[in-house]
Order: sequence, then structure tokens, then C-alpha cells
Amino acid sequence: MKGLILSGGKGTRLRPLTYTGAKQLVPVANKPILWYGIDSLVAAGITDIGIVVSPETGGEIEAKTGKGDRFGARLTYIQQTSPDGLAHAVKIARPFLQDKAFVMYLGDNLIQGSLGNFLKAFQAKTLDALILLKSVPNPTAFGVADVDAQGRVLHLVEKPSQPPSDLALVGVYLFSPQIHIAIDQIRPSARGELEITDAIQHLIDTQKPVEAQTLRGWWLDTGKKDNLLEANRIILDEYLGASAIAGTVDDQSQISGRVTLGAGSTLVNCTVRGPVIIGQNCRLENCFVGAYSSIGDQVTLTDIEIDHSVVLAGARIEGIRQRIVDSLIGQRAQLTMAPARPRALRFWSAMTVKLS
Ligand code: DAU
Repeated sequence: MKGLILSGGKGTRLRPLTYTGAKQLVPVANKPILWYGIDSLVAAGITDIGIVVSPETGGEIEAKTGKGDRFGARLTYIQQTSPDGLAHAVKIARPFLQDKAFVMYLGDNLIQGSLGNFLKAFQAKTLDALILLKSVPNPTAFGVADVDAQGRVLHLVEKPSQPPSDLALVGVYLFSPQIHIAIDQIRPSARGELEITDAIQHLIDTQKPVEAQTLRGWWLDTGKKDNLLEANRIILDEYLGASAIAGTVDDQSQISGRVTLGAGSTLVNCTVRGPVIIGQNCRLENCFVGAYSSIGDQVTLTDIEIDHSVVLAGARIEGIRQRIVDSLIGQRAQLTMAPARPRALRFWSAMTVKLS
């Protein structure tokens, strides 16, 4: 079985963060979202993995992610020249996939738990497609399944204005090579994309064995800011181990709860309340860092309070006297402030901001 991770697309929903970078590389607990998907496939025994990338961000993804050694996998990068849909991504990956069954994983999705049971069910029942469903409060934002009383999938529809149910398609799909035949039969949708939901619908319409299973654990499509902060909170809560302090902490600083401080990082007169992860070569001086914050590598924080926020690598934040909460601060962003300013601040920034 092979793996196919879709990491192309435009990433418009995470702008301005994704103007310059791939949304799949935005970190959750200081690890790129894409890497969780790779780890998840490898944990299920799938090590031959294709990664679909766009011409704009493919180089960055490949440079950062590498050939797969760090994951115990072999990664093959497949360029999709334009984001023409999930089924189009499968189509252009066909030379890599050959006639093997495969797991397709959306590179901006985070899914709790192991894929092992889904794989077993798919293989034991010799299905042509196994999809995962999850009840959501906002089905119009997803592909939605209409399922009968026995759990059989009757109908799939992409981002419907009148959803037939609240069961969204989660971004993990298991396919036999039959999916290529179905993709060859479909036409672009009204939004101009070759939709994977249409290809699965074609399998259903031609009486191919398609089943759905409900995902019990949490699932986040991290393409939106609030989901990203929520993903950061969940991952720090569930996966951050006991405190690991590789950097230096002065006598005036206080650390409580689970805190990871990377090598080469320095805390001077700071209070850090875990769960918090701070990357390498950071300098934090006179700061409060509250729970569920992730601070990337080479970040400088001076005279600030920050809580429940994600700060990407190379950012510099200085002298903001109000507490920064629920914020996502972009790579190399610079936030500084001149005297006298009221209230709490919420940022959604990838660039230089100077408050006065
Ligand atoms: O997150 C689950 C949802 O993902 C499903 O419920 C929907 O049925 C499915 O269509 C998809 O919807 P999104 O609107 O969230 O898809 P998005 O455009 O964000 O693309 C998902 C991933 O696939 C993302 O990592 C980018 C990548 N992609 C996307 C397109 C359109 C490609 O690699 N190539 C593409 O052409």
C-alpha cells in the first residue's frame, strides 16, 4: 500500500500567513502540520509516500521535509502545476501510485489516533473506497455524505448549501486502483475542480464497494486560524512530554507545568506556564508566556505577555504592554509598540506591525 499526501493548493484561507509559505508547513506545537500526516502513515506501516506539491511552495516543502529519512519513509515529490482539485492531484500522481491501493491524506488535516483499523477494514473487505466521516456543526464547509440506516453511503456532495446530513468527509481516504478509472469518467465541477467526491460518487453509482466509517477521535482541518490554535492546544495538551529544558534559564525566571525549551534558547526574568514549547535559539526577556503557546525557533520576545498563541520562526515582539492572546504571529514578523495603549490585542499577522 502506498501513501499520497496532498500538499499543493493555494492556502488562501490562512492568508496573510501563507502568502510566502505553504500552509502545510505552518507548525502546530513547532512541528509542521504535514509531518503529522507523514508520521501517521508511517505508524500504519506505509513508508512509500508521494507528496503532491505546487510549483510555488513545493521547493520549500521539499527542502524542509527532505527525502524521508527522519520519518523512516521514502518520499517522492510530485508537482501539480495548478490546483485543479483533489481528484486531479490523484490523476497526476498515477505514475507514482501505479496499480497499488493507497491512502490519500490531505496535508492540512490533523487526525487523532491510528489509521491501522481503517487499513485493516479496507483490506479485509476488499473495498474500492473507504471514507472517514465525522459529525460537524458546519457541514457546508466540507464534503458531506448521505448515509442510510445501515451506514451505506448513498450520496456525496461537495460543500453543499443544503447539506443532506452533518457528516463531513474527513481528509483521509483509502482507495483501490479503481479510483483512477472513476477519475477518468468525471468532469470538473462548477468551481472548476476535479472533485474526489465526484469520483467516489462514480464508484457508488457503478455499484463498486464503498464504505464509510466514523472517526471517533478529533479531527481538524487546519486551514483556518481558529482551528490552528485549537490544534495547537490539543497537541500541546495530549502530546507534549515532561519538561525538557535544553536552553538556559536565569535565577529570576520561573517555569511551571510542562515546558520544552530548545537548545541555544535563553530565558531572562520570565514566567512560563506550560504546556508551552519554545524552539531553538530564542531569547525571551521580561516575558510572561501562558499555557498553550508555541514559540518557533529564533524568536525574540522582550517585555511582553503572551497566552494561547503561536509565534512562527524568526518573529520579534517587543514592548507590547497588553497581553497578546489567541494570536498567530507569522514568520519573521516584527511587532513593536510606542508608549501608551489600552486593552487586549489579538493578532493575525505575517508582517511588520508598529503600534503607536
Ligand atoms: O478537510 C476535509 C475536506 O477537504 C473535505 O471534507 C472535502 O470534501 C475536501 O474537498 C477538502 O476540502 P478543502 O476545501 O478543505 O480542500 P483544500 O482545497 O483545502 O485542499 C485540501 C488539501 O489538498 C490541502 O493540503 C491542499 C491540497 N490540494 C488541494 C487542491 C484543490 C492539492 O494538493 N491540490 C489541489 O488541487
